[in-house]
Amino acid sequence: MNIAVFGLGYVGAVTTACLAQRGHHLIGVDVNPLKCELVASGRSPIIEHGLDDLLLEGVKAGRIRTTTSVHDAVRESDLSIISVGTPSLPNGGLDLSYVYRVCQQIGEALADIRRPHVVVLRSTALPGTTETCLQILKDAAQGTEVSIAFNPEFLREGSSIKDFDAPAYTVIGTEDPVAEAAVRAVYAGIDAPFHVVAPRVAEMVKYTANAFHALKITFANEIGVLAKQMGVDGRDVMALIVQDTKLNVSPAYLRPGFAYGGSCLPKDVSALLHLARREELSVPLLASLPQSNRDQIERIATQVLATGARRVTVLGLAFKAGTDDLRESPAVELVERLIGRGCDVRILDRAVQSATLVGANKEYVDRRLPHVSCLLTDDPETLIHDAEAIVVTQNQPEFVKLLAGVREGVPVFDVCGVAVPAHVQLRGVAW
Ligand SMILES: NC(=O)c1ccc[n+]([C@@H]2O[C@H](COP(=O)([O-])OP(=O)(O)OC[C@H]3O[C@@H](n4cnc5c(N)ncnc54)[C@H](O)[C@@H]3O)[C@@H](O)[C@H]2O)c1
Repeated sequence: MNIAVFGLGYVGAVTTACLAQRGHHLIGVDVNPLKCELVASGRSPIIEHGLDDLLLEGVKAGRIRTTTSVHDAVRESDLSIISVGTPSLPNGGLDLSYVYRVCQQIGEALADIRRPHVVVLRSTALPGTTETCLQILKDAAQGTEVSIAFNPEFLREGSSIKDFDAPAYTVIGTEDPVAEAAVRAVYAGIDAPFHVVAPRVAEMVKYTANAFHALKITFANEIGVLAKQMGVDGRDVMALIVQDTKLNVSPAYLRPGFAYGGSCLPKDVSALLHLARREELSVPLLASLPQSNRDQIERIATQVLATGARRVTVLGLAFKAGTDDLRESPAVELVERLIGRGCDVRILDRAVQSATLVGANKEYVDRRLPHVSCLLTDDPETLIHDAEAIVVTQNQPEFVKLLAGVREGVPVFDVCGVAVPAHVQLRGVAW
């Protein structure tokens, strides 16, 4: 394919070199003529292992050229990749002016050239940017057909060529089959799964991946600080942590939904934070966990109350399905908050109902929710029929069945990803 690459920085230079190696013909575009000159002569504008060789190979094979003219680049290509910078503004926000400017320029060129074109946005940009870019392109292109896709870049500086050739997957955010087919052709031969999703999902995936990486680094650092203080080598600890691919480095605990609870997580986080305070160690990430967890419960309570509902049904009280353990259950906390603000709450939880609450569990309920037995009901049909709002905290087959009887217009707050019939007015916590 004939591909124009806008922005010959880290991403653009690597993309140009790697796509040329795969047999495509590349035209690099940059506002900086020096970068254009370097790339056109087979020299890398950045320090990156193996990039000089690859660029030189592409130039010698006649597959890499550069220009500072947007018009020339668009005229001589079928597809444009945008990889210009999206730096931070002084207030921390995202500066998309370079991206928008390139879209405007490509659109203007298309208005003149009058040939269909595909634009692939590779710069990191917040959800909604691809839609704005398409609008700018269409307005400027004056009727020339233009398709767009967002294709996030996951390369790491220092190993970017390897990352380009062996990505975990290729994500393409588009609703346009023309753009999808074009991007598939660009990456033909790369042996990695291809995921086609809505543009906003693809945009959010990129930010989520980077936030997750930052979170992991910070988490490991804070654990390291605590471990060292206790005479433990933090590297030994983390080396073992990552070997558990069932619960630790795995999809477990990585689905948005309800707050954490139960007899272990709140208690153990609390003990670690106590240790940090005692030792005067700053661990702000770990310290933020209880607050963030409480916020998740409060968010749901606020949303339920905002509907004006007073008769609220809660499906599931224990901290997870199939247990009667109410200790630190976020559902108990939610029920308390709703009652505290004047709601008439009714609860269905068979496991809790049938359990003879004993020991620490009973103590906890007596202390936090002494009237829990009056709130539990074994008449689910009335419970569903009378409800003005429903909160589902567990994905139980019985709850799914019951939700079929929900009156039209009654909001159902789903914090666990439950499947409901079409007439149910579902309000997911993150969906
Ligand atoms: N560097 C990375 O490892 C990496 C990885 C993944 C994603 N990203 C994202 O990719 C994008 C590019 O990052 P980068 O590190 O390559 O940036 P960079 O600053 O190294 O390069 C951007 C290039 O765009 C050029 N440019 C600016 N306006 C232009 C215009 N109107 N026309 C043509 N060229 C123009 C600049 O001169 C510069 O050479 C950013 O959104 C970044 O967040 C970067």
